[in-house]
Amino acid sequence: MTTPRSDLPALAFIGGGQMARALIGGLAAGPLSSPAMWVSDPGDGQRAALAASFPGVRVLADNESAAAAGAVWVLAVKPQQIAAVARQLAPLAERVGPLVISVAAGIRTADLQRWLGASAAIVRAMPNRPALIGAGVTALYAPPEVSTERRALAAAILGAVGSVVWVGSDAEIDAATAVSGSGPAYFLRLIELLEEAGVAAGLDPVVAHRLALDTALGTARLAHGSTESCAELRASVTSAGGTTAAALAVLEAADLRAIVGSAVGAAARRAAELADEFGRT
Ligand SMILES: NC(=O)c1ccc[n+]([C@@H]2O[C@H](COP(=O)([O-])OP(=O)(O)OC[C@H]3O[C@@H](n4cnc5c(N)ncnc54)[C@H](OP(=O)(O)O)[C@@H]3O)[C@@H](O)[C@H]2O)c1
Repeated sequence: MTTPRSDLPALAFIGGGQMARALIGGLAAGPLSSPAMWVSDPGDGQRAALAASFPGVRVLADNESAAAAGAVWVLAVKPQQIAAVARQLAPLAERVGPLVISVAAGIRTADLQRWLGASAAIVRAMPNRPALIGAGVTALYAPPEVSTERRALAAAILGAVGSVVWVGSDAEIDAATAVSGSGPAYFLRLIELLEEAGVAAGLDPVVAHRLALDTALGTARLAHGSTESCAELRASVTSAGGTTAAALAVLEAADLRAIVGSAVGAAARRAAELADEFGRT
């Protein structure tokens, strides 16, 4: 008799919305297997949709029953809901000492620990929107007391929806939020503006959209697959006295570096403010 392969322990997703669905889908499609996945969500429609999409996953309305079945809990509710959910699960956390991975934006590990109690091992994850298509990047932070094995487990779970990077503090998660969490919106704004400028330069809007979008995609793939830095690649497509040099000179004259720096600084400060607000709960 053969035992089913299981690289992961039983997983409980608390909240079955977009991010939980992305993770469950990524795990189901990937090489790792879990002996059981449970998900709890209060919405009848949400539960029906989860059960239809993932027949092997057990779907419940009750958070405590789902958590009791999982050795790893993935908290995937909105940031405003997380304090109540964590407090509800605290007695169970004290008894079983689970690994708790929170994907909630703006919720610090110290606050999660206070709400869940000292027995829980906490990993904070900051994924981004492309995770919904398996192309995300997630910044992870865990306090020093979380074991290497549990860190590896958290990285494997978030790795189901893209790449992962570890950072050394909650404050760095705020910085990561400003770069990769909010980052998709910066690139989308740039694509929009490139399209608009293309139309102003005489292109049909559909053509401008295709050119701008595929340029963004192709450039990201080029940079991703290259051993050269972005600066080196940029230099290699910028001939002295040519069209690209003319455009980049305009961007430099407007101090694009300062604009991007201010934007990322504002996002990081806002992330810290939100964490302060949520942490006061
Ligand atoms: N989606 C993203 O691109 C993204 C990116 C980075 C981080 N995140 C983080 O991921 C977390 C989840 O985001 P999401 O986009 O997946 O949100 P979502 O789609 O709204 O999913 C949250 C789910 O949790 C349910 N819920 C509400 N209260 C609950 C409770 N007490 N117990 C259990 N479930 C409950 C919600 O039900 P109702 O709808 O009925 O309230 C909803 O189905 C957030 O904290 C967010 O910061 C998301």
